[in-house]
Amino acid sequence: MTILVSIVILLASSLFIYILLTLIGLIKKVWLNPIRVQHLMRSQGINGPSYRFLHGNTKEIISMKRETMGKAMDEISHDIFPRVLPHVHSWAKLYGANFLNWYGPQAQLVVTEAELVKEILNNKDENYPKIDLEGYAKKLLGDGLSSSKGQKWARMRKLANSVFHAESLKNMIPAMITSVETMLEKWKEYEDKEIEVFEEFRILTSEIISRTALGSSYMEGKNIFDMLMKLTLIVSRNAHKIKFPGISLFLRSKDEIESEKLGQGIRDCVVQIITKRETGETFRTDFLGKLLEANQDTDERKRISVEDITDECKTFYFAGHETSTSSLAWTILLLSVHQEWQDKARNEVIELFGQSKPNPDGIARLKILTMIIEESLRLYCPVPAIKRKVEKEVKLGKLTLPPQTELYISQLALHHDPNIWGEDVHLFRPERFEQGIVKATNNNPVAFLPFGFGPRTCVGLNFAMTEAKIALSMILQRYRLILSPTYIHSPVQVFMVRPQHGVQVILQKI
Ligand code: HEM
Repeated sequence: MTILVSIVILLASSLFIYILLTLIGLIKKVWLNPIRVQHLMRSQGINGPSYRFLHGNTKEIISMKRETMGKAMDEISHDIFPRVLPHVHSWAKLYGANFLNWYGPQAQLVVTEAELVKEILNNKDENYPKIDLEGYAKKLLGDGLSSSKGQKWARMRKLANSVFHAESLKNMIPAMITSVETMLEKWKEYEDKEIEVFEEFRILTSEIISRTALGSSYMEGKNIFDMLMKLTLIVSRNAHKIKFPGISLFLRSKDEIESEKLGQGIRDCVVQIITKRETGETFRTDFLGKLLEANQDTDERKRISVEDITDECKTFYFAGHETSTSSLAWTILLLSVHQEWQDKARNEVIELFGQSKPNPDGIARLKILTMIIEESLRLYCPVPAIKRKVEKEVKLGKLTLPPQTELYISQLALHHDPNIWGEDVHLFRPERFEQGIVKATNNNPVAFLPFGFGPRTCVGLNFAMTEAKIALSMILQRYRLILSPTYIHSPVQVFMVRPQHGVQVILQKI
């Protein structure tokens, strides 16, 4: 009996100590640590909205976003920074170019000062690695190229570079042209009528990345894209929701159940494509072909798993079309609003290609169209911000940053900074890029960052630019684009910066 009582007492006291330690850990995480970090940063001149228990500043951020993005803009103004990232815009004004805000108990240093942005993104010692994806975002991208780190990233990046470098891109041009032709075939039904182009470009860019990188057609990948789109919406609507530790063990939300199903569904579809490819007779040198080759590597250390292949396919499906879709749709809007630039671009296209298909040599010489795309990427930067983190205490400029600080770098803020671009910063003026990006940015390499900067720069940069030039050239060869009166100017951030109600134009046959 006494032994039994002793065991019960021992168990009860162990449980008590466990609960006590967990509680102390929790209090440290959600109160003591945030207060300590806030104090540390304020002592170095970094201010910001005060930490609020558990939620940090997420409630304020959500309400600011709801207010600005809840209604359409009165006119077609390109001054979209205060609307898309209202907290960054107003807090940078209030607290300075670099300020501290809180995502729940997670400290986040917002950096908009060009010198510091350069120092972070250009760092090659892994002082500022990518953040660890969690929850929904992890289901969307897995541990693919855009989120992996260290040796795994280096190996996959080398592999991707070999597929997406300029010479390989030339071989992808015919597939890009075929995809645009398929889209334009359908557009014949819309001549002198209204068409919504965002959805058109979503299909086009999905088709192009499927054909060129993964050797399948849009129809084969359609299921994957549909599921990825649903997952993107889930990620987006949960972006500012704070998850309290342990809760998901007992209570799973509808989004959690749905995202799990979608994650599994995407994996199954990718495995199907892989199996089909493995049993096919032809060996291909596209991205999927290279991944499959690495899956069979005789050196065990270099071999990659089916999970790795799935993650890369998801990453490229996602990264390869969400961004390009937005970029193309915004460029069409700008061309429809600024008819004089549409004429200039069309004249250039006709001069180089006449009514023939675009060719590699001509694509490289499309100067005006390049300027227009660059100005569109500046004003309506599809990726408005990127994140990094501090793993070990580090010196950034004159600041000492504590471990586990998240860094939030907003390209949109830099692209809309009048100190960098001048008083006409919100106007569409492609001539800024006439002498190239270096001149346009006054030799400030981080003033224009649509594709990021440093070792993690977009691996699909040249792919995206080639795709955009081909699609726009072929559209301009055939149509004059007139903005439809039904268009509503409402840029929103759903992961990327996109037109909330699409872009409606009237297609006038040339
Ligand atoms: C207009 C189109 C595009 C824009 C604006 C864009 C933007 C970006 C940005 C800003 C980054 C850097 C993210 C960071 O530093 O955290 C990035 C990375 C990446 N992009 Fe793109 N992208 C575009 C098109 C593409 C395309 C077409 C592909 C695929 C073919 C692609 C694949 C990737 C991948 C895999 C990464 C991760 C690279 C790494 O971490 O090594 N992107 N992109």
